[in-house]
Amino acid sequence: MTPTSAIQRASKLREQINYHNYRYYVLQSPAISDLQFDQLMSELRQLEQAYPELLTPDSPSQRVGGEVSEKFEKLPHPAPILSLANAFGSADAQAWFERIAKLDARVQTAEFVVEPKIDGLSVVLHYENGVFVRGATRGNGEVGEDITPNLRTLRNLPLRLPADPSVQIPIPSRLVVRGEAFISLQDFADMNARLATAGERTFINPRNTASGAIRQLDSRLTAARRLQVLCYQVVAIEGVQLHTQWQTIEYLRQLGFPVPNIARRFAQFADVLAFCEGMAEQRTALPYETDGMVIKLDDLQLQADLGFVGKDPRGALAYKYPTQEVVTRLLDVGVNVGRTGVLTPYAMLAAVEVGGVVVRQATLHNFDFIAEKDIRIGDSVLVKRAGEVIPYVIGPLPDLRTGAEQPYLPPTHCPVCGEAVKEVDDEVAVYCVNPACPAQLQRVVEHFAARGTLDIEGLGEKLAVQLVNAGLLHDVADIFSLTKAQLLTLEGFGDKKAENLLTAIETAKTRPLERLISALGIQGVGEVAARDLAQHFGSLGALSAASLADLQAIEGIGPNTATSIVDWFAMSGNQQVLAKLHKAGVNPQMARQSAQSGAV
Ligand code: IVH
Repeated sequence: MTPTSAIQRASKLREQINYHNYRYYVLQSPAISDLQFDQLMSELRQLEQAYPELLTPDSPSQRVGGEVSEKFEKLPHPAPILSLANAFGSADAQAWFERIAKLDARVQTAEFVVEPKIDGLSVVLHYENGVFVRGATRGNGEVGEDITPNLRTLRNLPLRLPADPSVQIPIPSRLVVRGEAFISLQDFADMNARLATAGERTFINPRNTASGAIRQLDSRLTAARRLQVLCYQVVAIEGVQLHTQWQTIEYLRQLGFPVPNIARRFAQFADVLAFCEGMAEQRTALPYETDGMVIKLDDLQLQADLGFVGKDPRGALAYKYPTQEVVTRLLDVGVNVGRTGVLTPYAMLAAVEVGGVVVRQATLHNFDFIAEKDIRIGDSVLVKRAGEVIPYVIGPLPDLRTGAEQPYLPPTHCPVCGEAVKEVDDEVAVYCVNPACPAQLQRVVEHFAARGTLDIEGLGEKLAVQLVNAGLLHDVADIFSLTKAQLLTLEGFGDKKAENLLTAIETAKTRPLERLISALGIQGVGEVAARDLAQHFGSLGALSAASLADLQAIEGIGPNTATSIVDWFAMSGNQQVLAKLHKAGVNPQMARQSAQSGAV
């Protein structure tokens, strides 16, 4: 039986972790360091491993995912999950106002709430006595798909209400909330940058990525996509009366839900229009993609009385902005060489303005994409820019062809070292397999020093290229033997800059084992796998001695990843890197969490 002390400690840890998670992801005002947070989480995981009966559905340890479904069960919504009618610009929106004012005189003096229209997917979240118990996709508006384990992985979704235990607010016995799940533009850009360096297929846009991630049968895959949610509607509630949209947002905020923080309330419809017009530009600075604003009558009774047309309520309206798409000419296709030698194409475009920014390059994803879409050099192409995300090519406009366009052929030789390239069966990628290709080492160094791995401040793409080209780095371990004299020979380096970099390199030696494992850039080993491996093996030495069977015995490590780990450690060049790292004092250890590792 579980001792009372363990039960109490686990409950306290859960409360603390949920609270600090709320501070970090919802309030964006952390009260403890990342290290302290990790320690709390690690203690909770150890307790839950020792006493599995302690595991509760609201445990924050469940955010990493783990549950795998066979298929999604149906989950009926307690009330219809409606859509919105669109208005394209202020004249359209004014016409809507006049239409509904004719239907109900109260509209003339009504107040309006305006919120961002987040370009994600609707989700419906069920809470019982303050605990998140179930959640669904929108489905057909009447019945959705039960995606509960996936929703638990959303970082800012409160698992227990109120998220701040010091808030004195009665918790309804039943509460169903609607929100929008999405991937922030920053997380999307980071994820694509990581995939590109790892030579993997990149995602096309944040919305489709979020939509794919939320419907994964394996919730660990959802967790790896870093989804978030913003909530804006109470679908059902027991024991509390909400009269206005403004009150609803405030109420949700108090309970600890993330709500759109640029929501505004207006007494004059003219001010609503002015605000929507002004947001056309400002919205591009928001951390997520928006395709418009949502105008809602503040009075929920009035909204309900106006009824709906089809699936669109009359009392709310989507004020849509023109999409940030433009047509420009594809001048040429450039090729990047990634960390694993993978070659990826990018579009070199005739300069064009999209949403106030001049665009000259755009992502072309991979060579298959160019072939599938029949994109030719000289084509007019449709390009989309979404917030800060690197613009991407949607496709060609064949009707605008002049006949002078040239088909594009993938490269037969590496654009950096000139060696013949290799195609790998079953993969979209084309590789440069020359181990001495400087482009690959540059990318390896970049990944090793990046924010999510060893986080060496100042060592980004530009410096990685400089260091490799100057012959100062032959592998990543050489970073730790760089000297001030060497750095001073590089362009742009003075005393201060060199010292700062050396300090950052010194600090990187103390990063936790999981960061070092993911820094090595082993194919298939991202953040999640690196954490599992660190917890399981406790040191690089133990990991490098692991057999295929040891690795496959770990939940979440599939046969491909296991093979790629064994292959990586079997390469003599990599063994030398490990020995050099060890000698340089880069040797983090971690308390092993599983007794059955089987490795030394
Ligand atoms: S309100 C009756 N508010 O946009 C309530 N929807 O095009 C109708 N959306 O299906 C929805 N942000 O998925 C509402 N602040 C917001 C929203 C929002 C995004 C989505 C939602 C809806 C779609 C309609």
